[in-house]
Amino acid sequence: MSLREQFSPRLQALLARDEWLVAEEEYDPAQNLAYESRFCLANGYMGSRAVHEEGFVKNTLPACYVHGVFDRSEAFQRELCNTPDWAKLKIYQEREPLSPESGRIAEYLRVLDLKNGLVAKRYLHTDSRGRRTRVESVKLLSRAMPHCALLRVWLTPLNADALFEIEDIVDATVTNFMDFPRFRVKHLQVEKIECLGAEGCYVETKTRDRDLPVGTGSFTRVLNEKGVPVQRNRAFRPYGEIACEFMDVRAEQGETICIEKFSAVYTGRDGKPLKPALAQALAELSHHGFEAAVQAHVEKQAALWSLADVQLTGDEKMQKALRFDLFHLLGAASFTDDRVGIGAKLLHGEEYGGHSFWDTELFLHPFFDYVFPQVGRNLANYRYHLLDAARRNARRNSHQGAQFPWESADTGEEECPQWTIEPDGSCYRCHVAEYEHHVTAAVAYSAVQYYRITQDQDFWERQGLELLAETARFWASRLQYDAADGAYHIRQVTGPDEWHEPVDDNAYTNRLAHWNLVTAAGYLAECRAARPEVYARLRQKIRLKAEEPEEWKRRAASLYLGASQGLIEQFQGYFALADGEITQWDQNKMPLLPETLRLVPKQQRCILKQADVVMMLFLLGQEFDPETQRLNFDYYEKRTLHRSSLSPGVHCIMGIRTGESARAYEYLERSAYVDLDDNQGNTREGIHAASAAITWQSVVLGYGGMGLGKDGLLEFAPQLPDRWEKLQFSLQYRGRVLRVCITQNELSLMQEGGVTPVAYRCNGTVRQAILS
Ligand code: BGC
Repeated sequence: MSLREQFSPRLQALLARDEWLVAEEEYDPAQNLAYESRFCLANGYMGSRAVHEEGFVKNTLPACYVHGVFDRSEAFQRELCNTPDWAKLKIYQEREPLSPESGRIAEYLRVLDLKNGLVAKRYLHTDSRGRRTRVESVKLLSRAMPHCALLRVWLTPLNADALFEIEDIVDATVTNFMDFPRFRVKHLQVEKIECLGAEGCYVETKTRDRDLPVGTGSFTRVLNEKGVPVQRNRAFRPYGEIACEFMDVRAEQGETICIEKFSAVYTGRDGKPLKPALAQALAELSHHGFEAAVQAHVEKQAALWSLADVQLTGDEKMQKALRFDLFHLLGAASFTDDRVGIGAKLLHGEEYGGHSFWDTELFLHPFFDYVFPQVGRNLANYRYHLLDAARRNARRNSHQGAQFPWESADTGEEECPQWTIEPDGSCYRCHVAEYEHHVTAAVAYSAVQYYRITQDQDFWERQGLELLAETARFWASRLQYDAADGAYHIRQVTGPDEWHEPVDDNAYTNRLAHWNLVTAAGYLAECRAARPEVYARLRQKIRLKAEEPEEWKRRAASLYLGASQGLIEQFQGYFALADGEITQWDQNKMPLLPETLRLVPKQQRCILKQADVVMMLFLLGQEFDPETQRLNFDYYEKRTLHRSSLSPGVHCIMGIRTGESARAYEYLERSAYVDLDDNQGNTREGIHAASAAITWQSVVLGYGGMGLGKDGLLEFAPQLPDRWEKLQFSLQYRGRVLRVCITQNELSLMQEGGVTPVAYRCNGTVRQAILS
């Protein structure tokens, strides 16, 4: 029986075909936290971990994160706050809780429907008195009404009449790091616990540092099979920081009752009085009804998928994993708000505090720039809005220009903690923010890529050039001149491989700094010639001295870059470290540390945490000949442990580019299955945003061989793995929707509804799009 067919007809009607369903076929409390991340729903405004609404589950981290709601209080840094939990709906049968962990359960099945953006569940519950109840539910965060969430739970008593007691709950007792006493922080102070109106629950809280209000409300009713409300004894019964509305309902043996819960969230960032806005949203939902609301949501999801979907014919497992990755990326992307970034764990977990890293620029951006340029622009603007903070950060560190923080939240201040505490209580001094500077080049790099892909002149002239100039200024001041060799150097720096910290002249950082300086000078010269008024405005705004761009070029020309051919040393002294090659892999094909290096401290051995020189080749490959790329890929591959999920996707693309397709596919698996297989062991903390996005890059830019030529022409040099019959994907390219279809022998590019032929280059030959 298919997964879908295991649900009742009422749920089958809401569910997509099996190829879109990710299933949890057995309830294992030990796996619950990982599933809370995997099945987390998000709609671009907020994200809600997939908690069992019934509660009474021990291993759980209920959480709702709303974009832009940060607070510090006792935490080491500003964190994305866990806001009140609206997802709870406790059910009892005469005081006995009905949940997956109370009583006995059978026939358990929960699915995440990637296509329709909902989570559906069913199980058979038997309580201590032998009463059996069929439980089914469906939950979604509306794409059509982004402040709202919908939940329906159906209960069918199977062997006796039942009296169900129900608690509709909005729980403000939540904290961040609920299961981690050393880090636990309550970021929101409760202001109001009250009835929403005549009925329903309302909780108002505010962040403790900056008084940002957050309103969370819900409304619940119980319907019989004819859709008539049948709840009784409704009473608002708050306790402590919990808003709770009690109701009960009788159900005859074999009769199905439906509990319907609508929830909504508004914050002070939405610019509306919270409670009235929320009450109105819930009233609208009630008025239109569940079915209409689901339909509106599903239509929005379909519109997103019509652009985002990548079809892989001939590789079912990879197909589902890729859709899983894209689903979660889309959930965290804001199409409307350019003051929020995307955290390293999306809106799905607390690790990394909801902070933006270089992950956004180099891993996430390309997917959005090509497929949803509006989101690409929002993300670029997020950095632009924080430029002043980056300027302050540079000053604080005695540099010039703008230095973007290693970890960024809502203020643009450095949010990477200086200290962290280990589980045993010992303090650990964290030097990352002090030395890891390459994020600043990543911001510049992705602004340029966004512009090259989209030709968004408005962004470029208003924000892009300024970002580029200020980041170049940073590097110009960060370089240190050494009279001994007459060259500039970057000393005391950490590259992407954080296990060697700090080092001198990290090849990745030096090359990216070089690129930043030269590219900024080049684009400014171009602007000066072509758009003198834009150039003059920029010069005045940032007080750019006439000679500055020339000075950037001069410094770049004398910057120590290491080898340009042959084996590239990751940093000065790397080749002298204790050497050894990886020869063993675990059950997920993840590499294991060579035995011989086990006792050698990280800093003193050649083993890398993640792609570093290979990352540089990935971004700046055009600066190196193919043999150099192959040689370095081969060398560093044998020394990279991929302990950051960012790394395998980069190796996949570089594997393809250097002709190692079979090995590349293994990296694609490691990247695509990070959270489905939990191959980094921390899926419980949230979904790995960067690996999800580089999986798209691996498929489209790697196997599809797509990119932009120097002349701005879209290029394709496809190399599909043998098992793929067909690869299909879409782009929103410079105002046109393009549909790309690649088989083992052919590439076709269709422009939707277009009349202008699209020129592109495929495997070296310039072609024109077939018009639809
Ligand atoms: C990686 C960084 C990455 C961060 C957030 C770290 O483990 O080393 O490169 O930016 O995780 O994903």
